[in-house]
Amino acid sequence: MSEAPWVYIQDIHQHEGQEVALKGWLYAKRSSGKLHFLQVRDGTGTIQAVLFKGDVPEELFAAADKLPQEASIAVRGAVKKDARSPLGFELSVKDLAVLQAAEGYPITPKEHGVAYLMEHRHLWLRSARQHAILRVRHSIVKAVRDYFDERGFTLFDAPILTPAACEGTSTLFEVPYFDQKAYLTQSGQLYGEAGAMALGKVYVFGPTFRAEKSKTRRHLTEFWMVEPEVAFMDLAGDMDLAEDFLVSVVAHVLARHERELKEVLERDLEPLRRVQKPFPRISYTEAVERIAKAGHPMKWGDDIGGDEETVLANQFDRPVMVHRYPAAMKAFYFKRDPDDTKLALGVDVLAPEGYGEIVGGGQREENIATLEVALKEQGLPPEPFSWYLDLRRWGSVPHAGFGLGIERTVAWICGLHHVRETIPFARTIERLAP
Ligand code: 4AD
Ligand code: MG
Repeated sequence: MSEAPWVYIQDIHQHEGQEVALKGWLYAKRSSGKLHFLQVRDGTGTIQAVLFKGDVPEELFAAADKLPQEASIAVRGAVKKDARSPLGFELSVKDLAVLQAAEGYPITPKEHGVAYLMEHRHLWLRSARQHAILRVRHSIVKAVRDYFDERGFTLFDAPILTPAACEGTSTLFEVPYFDQKAYLTQSGQLYGEAGAMALGKVYVFGPTFRAEKSKTRRHLTEFWMVEPEVAFMDLAGDMDLAEDFLVSVVAHVLARHERELKEVLERDLEPLRRVQKPFPRISYTEAVERIAKAGHPMKWGDDIGGDEETVLANQFDRPVMVHRYPAAMKAFYFKRDPDDTKLALGVDVLAPEGYGEIVGGGQREENIATLEVALKEQGLPPEPFSWYLDLRRWGSVPHAGFGLGIERTVAWICGLHHVRETIPFARTIERLAP
């Protein structure tokens, strides 16, 4: 094994005709008399490694026949062009070493239930479908960061341990913090606002936490959120930013993952290709009328739930922006619409095809007296927010931002029914392990 250079499967095309060594795991195997076909994966790709009886010692050929799924192995052989393989190449094996023979791997090619697979998530991650999802996730995160980095935003890390609630007190995770209480952050936004007053345009990107008691296909208790925040921006500018950003992220992912989306995840790409400007922008009031007219009883002031979101989103061929919600159903920090103070200058972006709300944001209240009233109305103690009010005491300006949930975005782009597959180790009300 030692003489041949160790290469990754993704680089195999650079080694046609050469002898190389691969290190990886046995994904699957079939045999036909004088031949064993081993599907070897190394994390960067999967290649068919062919053992011909006449090419290798007899014991090796016999041992390869018994090689269990997910055995860790090293193989040496010649790289051959092969038009039938998706990779374009296969390996003609000369030598094979077993690092560890994995007996009784719990995930076999037969169908397993989701609960079983989630319990074995640490192993389920080795399947082709999960590789595709995690690579798309990686590209989404990269596209998100590139978008802001290329436009003069500064990455601004917000704390995870916080003294106060950002998104209401009903979904707070409390943690003992020496002789006081802390909460896991629900959103980095309030800190992002401090960042915007310091650096103009920032984005917070990190894990966020919600003690969500709901068991839905869209809710995790730990999820990643990217939150741009921009000084001197109003709601219209915020909607322009969200729209431009989403178009850019989807285009980036389509350009890189067409094959994985189509072939591995069986995603219909047409709806993704339609993610182009302009997105329809409708008010909450119009949204309620549309939903009610579509046969879902709903009145002004009601929350737009998951089912209603789907009804509304299905009326459009691309993401839809719903703006100006009743202030009573929104967080304390939203600026009221000066034309109708019952309304908050907020916007949600609903993904098409029933994937639900992927973005929530809006314009922030910049007046200190109005904010103090809003805090009181929502029963929030003023003390932990005093630093936040300072931002309005010294050089307050109009500003806006939004939060995009990474997992819901991955579910939408990959076409996954449930967010549990969008992150390596999902956390839900029912699951803290593995
Ligand atoms: O609408 P949300 O609660 O907005 C905020 O947290 C604002 N502070 C963001 C801001 O303006 N900076 O959450 C934003 C997004 C949602 O649209 C959704 O994509 C995602 O975060 N999200 C969740 N994703 C998975 N599981 C949950 N429990 C989620 N809650 C929100
Ligand atoms: Mg929201």
